[in-house]
Amino acid sequence: MESSGGRPLLQQTVVLVVILFVLCLALQCLYDIFLHPLRKFPGPRLAAVGRWYEFYFDVVRDGSYLWEIERMHGMYGPVVRINSRCLHIHDPQYYATVYAGSNRKTNKEWASVAGYTFPHSTLQTIDHDLHRKRRAVINPYFGKRAVTALEPTINERVEVLCSRLVELKGKPDGINLTAAFAALAGDVINFHFYGSHLDTVSAEDFHFPYREAIDELLNIYNITRFLPFDPALLKRLPNSVLDWIVPSFAPVLTARNEQRMRVQTAIEQMERAGKASRGVIVSALLDDKVPAAEKDVERLLDEGETIIGAGIDTTARALSVATFHLLNDKSHLRRLRAALKDQRNDRDKAWSAAELEAIPFMRAVVQEALRLTYSIVSRIPRIATEEALAYNEYNIPPGTPVSQSTYLINNDPTIFPNPHMFDPDRWLRAEQEGVHLDKYMVSFSKGTRACLGMNLAYAALYITIAKFASSLDMDLVGTTAENIQVGRTRLLGFPKAGKFAVHVGRIQVAV
Ligand SMILES: *[C@@H]1O[C@H](CO)[C@@H](O)[C@H](O)[C@H]1NC(C)=O
Ligand SMILES: *[C@@H]1O[C@H](CO)[C@@H](O)[C@H](O)[C@H]1NC(C)=O
Repeated sequence: MESSGGRPLLQQTVVLVVILFVLCLALQCLYDIFLHPLRKFPGPRLAAVGRWYEFYFDVVRDGSYLWEIERMHGMYGPVVRINSRCLHIHDPQYYATVYAGSNRKTNKEWASVAGYTFPHSTLQTIDHDLHRKRRAVINPYFGKRAVTALEPTINERVEVLCSRLVELKGKPDGINLTAAFAALAGDVINFHFYGSHLDTVSAEDFHFPYREAIDELLNIYNITRFLPFDPALLKRLPNSVLDWIVPSFAPVLTARNEQRMRVQTAIEQMERAGKASRGVIVSALLDDKVPAAEKDVERLLDEGETIIGAGIDTTARALSVATFHLLNDKSHLRRLRAALKDQRNDRDKAWSAAELEAIPFMRAVVQEALRLTYSIVSRIPRIATEEALAYNEYNIPPGTPVSQSTYLINNDPTIFPNPHMFDPDRWLRAEQEGVHLDKYMVSFSKGTRACLGMNLAYAALYITIAKFASSLDMDLVGTTAENIQVGRTRLLGFPKAGKFAVHVGRIQVAV
């Protein structure tokens, strides 16, 4: 009796829920396609409904919406509607309008940055004005002068890394040079933030817990970008629950605890000494002029973790891309070595970034490596909050998230012919022709939200590449262009299969 009474009720409920869902979906379709303010923008009908189309390509088909968007631009022109609320533009001349300077208020879009899981960081700050305030506190520490002061540390870390690599020589399956570069970048940025580093360039396998945390957060960005709640809430769950639903999150929590200890030590040291510790950034954030609410430990932790996180993988990847191409076609390496030697014969004296930047071929190698590194390849839209944007015949309503793709701009064949080729000479040719190519190399993005660590990244790239090129010989081991190409996107780019990494062997001091 009981089961025959219970079954129909259950069935009815299920049927009702399904009907309601279908009804909602139908209403959403009608609204998004026929009534939405963006209804006149070109693009496939399917893409215009909610975020389903985007979800299909980025989650089910693992980070591949970028190429579908490229296809859509080929079919529908330079502006397409990629989900119900968002537009995508491909137009190198219009990039700096979307990624605007301080002349216009630009917010970030919640869904694209919530997946970072650091809600109190400058990087994840949605609101334009709050972002300007936070950025103003940390900007001076990443200006040219501050970075120049850090150059001795960069040089010292590069020296230690080079000696270590020569000692290791290269196991048969090669050394993960990307991991080595991540350790180097990690030491430099940790030193800058906390006033001390963890000597990760000397660690076994260049391993440090924070790197695992970054790997993990990148790995699950395919999902966190689409969660209907704030992904940072995951961190509040008890460990046992979290272990059960996202076991891979453990390194993220371990890293956070480690950072918490470092921030607290820095604060205590400061209080004891009554003055700023050597960690310039911690002391900046604890500055009297900064409002108390902005100095909360959770905020400092979010700030530290994003600054450190953003400084590690991106730098390591650009260094890996540069090294890959110099070793893959050693004529580039020989040319760079000769250019450095022409500049000065003493390769053991430390270089300064300014001195290296003045060597045309050196600069061309760095720009070309950065171009092919792309950095963030997922869409990070900007929202013009108060003004409508005019683009061709279109009027984009205020509040619309609009993005352009770093990957598509850096590979635009009208600006960079034969874009997938590593061709440092294109920068030298452009200079002779008076073309300002830098404008179209958008790996650091542009405008008020452009990469905070740009000067630091340049200094690390110049100094490391010069040191490696002038003093080390090595060969690629089991690494082809496929290992560093973007085959799917998860915030950063990943090859179609496996991890992004360059492996090397037969390392020795160059004669
Ligand atoms: C999303 O990323 C995770 C972690 O790498 C992976 O296990 C999962 O298969 C991906 N999801 C889909 C649907 O591809
Ligand atoms: C090499 O190092 C990178 C960067 O730390 C890491 O993501 C990757 O998984 C490593 N590759 C291998 C094969 O261990």
